[in-house]
Amino acid sequence: MHECFADPEAMRFWNTPVHTKRIDTERVVLRYIDCTPSYYRHWAVADFETDRCLGLVSYHDGHIRNKRAAIGYFINPAYQSRGMATEAVSAMLDFCFEDLGLHRLQAFIDPDNTPSRKLAEKLGFEPEGLLRDHLRVGDSWRDEILYALIRNGRSPGAKVPVLIP
Ligand SMILES: CC(C)(COP(=O)(O)OP(=O)(O)OC[C@H]1O[C@@H](n2cnc3c(N)ncnc32)[C@H](O)[C@@H]1OP(=O)(O)O)[C@@H](O)C(=O)NCCC(=O)NCCS
Repeated sequence: MHECFADPEAMRFWNTPVHTKRIDTERVVLRYIDCTPSYYRHWAVADFETDRCLGLVSYHDGHIRNKRAAIGYFINPAYQSRGMATEAVSAMLDFCFEDLGLHRLQAFIDPDNTPSRKLAEKLGFEPEGLLRDHLRVGDSWRDEILYALIRNGRSPGAKVPVLIP
């Protein structure tokens, strides 16, 4: 995980500073392990043959009453563009909908984060609108697109056209 969190390019759209020391990553991973399943949970994405950690997938901001949560994902840059996130996030979506019985999953994605937008759209997420200054990255504010997936990919109701850069 430290290779992910220490990579400035990969951390461009993450809302925590780039980790310069291994201890920063160790602290974060300990927090991830000590999860509150009704609110958040992280999984390591591991290579099937070597068991090497290649990244993470997570849900967070769980809202039990409304049966919704937000999701996050991170793949080590050295292993990106090989379908890792597609496979890992798909498995987590199954868990969230089937095991947790959630109804709606959200993803907040920077308009410039093309790989993340492509991933979300490939998995059936639909853009619902632009949230201005929604994420603080270092000393600056970033807009984010709200993407959502309704259980089983069903999006009841009319599709609202949105203007997104
Ligand atoms: C977003 C991220 C998890 C995607 O991981 P990945 O394992 O490379 O994704 P996949 O290989 O499963 O590809 C998913 C889609 O993204 C596209 N994609 C992947 N890397 C891309 C790139 N560098 N440029 C453009 N598109 C890209 C793929 O083409 C694929 O769509 P397709 O199959 O229809 O072609 C990865 O880029 C990442 O960890 N980024 C840094 C952390 C981050 O920004 N997380 C998301 C915060 S919202």
